[in-house]
Amino acid sequence: MDIPSTHTGIIVVAAGSGHRFGGDVPKQFRLLAGRPMLMHTIDAFRTALPDASIVVALSPDMKAYWASLCSEYKFASPPVAEGGGTRCESVYKALSALPSDINIILVHDGGRPIVSPELIHRVVAAATVSKAAVPAIPVTDSMRRADTGKAVDRSIFRAVQTPQGFDAHILRNAYSAINCADPMLTDDASVVERSGVQVTMVDGDAHNIKVTLPGDIALAETLLKLTGIQ
Ligand code: C5P
Repeated sequence: MDIPSTHTGIIVVAAGSGHRFGGDVPKQFRLLAGRPMLMHTIDAFRTALPDASIVVALSPDMKAYWASLCSEYKFASPPVAEGGGTRCESVYKALSALPSDINIILVHDGGRPIVSPELIHRVVAAATVSKAAVPAIPVTDSMRRADTGKAVDRSIFRAVQTPQGFDAHILRNAYSAINCADPMLTDDASVVERSGVQVTMVDGDAHNIKVTLPGDIALAETLLKLTGIQ
């Protein structure tokens, strides 16, 4: 299937404070294999979908720092949208920074730099057909309920990743109808589902980790080398 990258928009959300990671600078700006993680993430999409429109959502107080990093690493930043207080708000604000004539929008976490072209293309292809698609992987750990402590059947669960892909009209409508304060809205698929749209799952990729804790940087560097993504 041809990938319609000309009419694809990408929102890379990177406005989080990275409190679980700790340190002075949010994780998305930390060095990974010699340059800021967020640059790897953006380049993964530029490689996979060279003609797509990309917007990066950044916290207002990180914009100047990002500009200085881009200058230091000679990196051409995509347009920057101001992020909000939650991931949901950051996506909502970034939606208005994308061109209005795109058909498919992908939303991706800035802290997932090991995202392969194959995965990106798989999500675009599925979103083109089914309007809403997310990559998901089986859960490999045994699982228990946090409230009762009882074991559950892990085979019925999937861990959901990004990029998540949507028909642009559906995604914009869904975001304009919800309240971002709802704690259940941890990803875009949850927002779209609220508008009655069914979400399709495609195969995710175990290498597509979300860098969350300090030890994840070393793992991400190993995975970058292993996958040859960049
Ligand atoms: O906190 P969590 O790991 O779920 O965040 C997922 C992504 O959402 C990260 O890339 C983070 O930078 C982004 N985010 C954001 N705006 C916020 C909070 C998180 O863009 N206010």
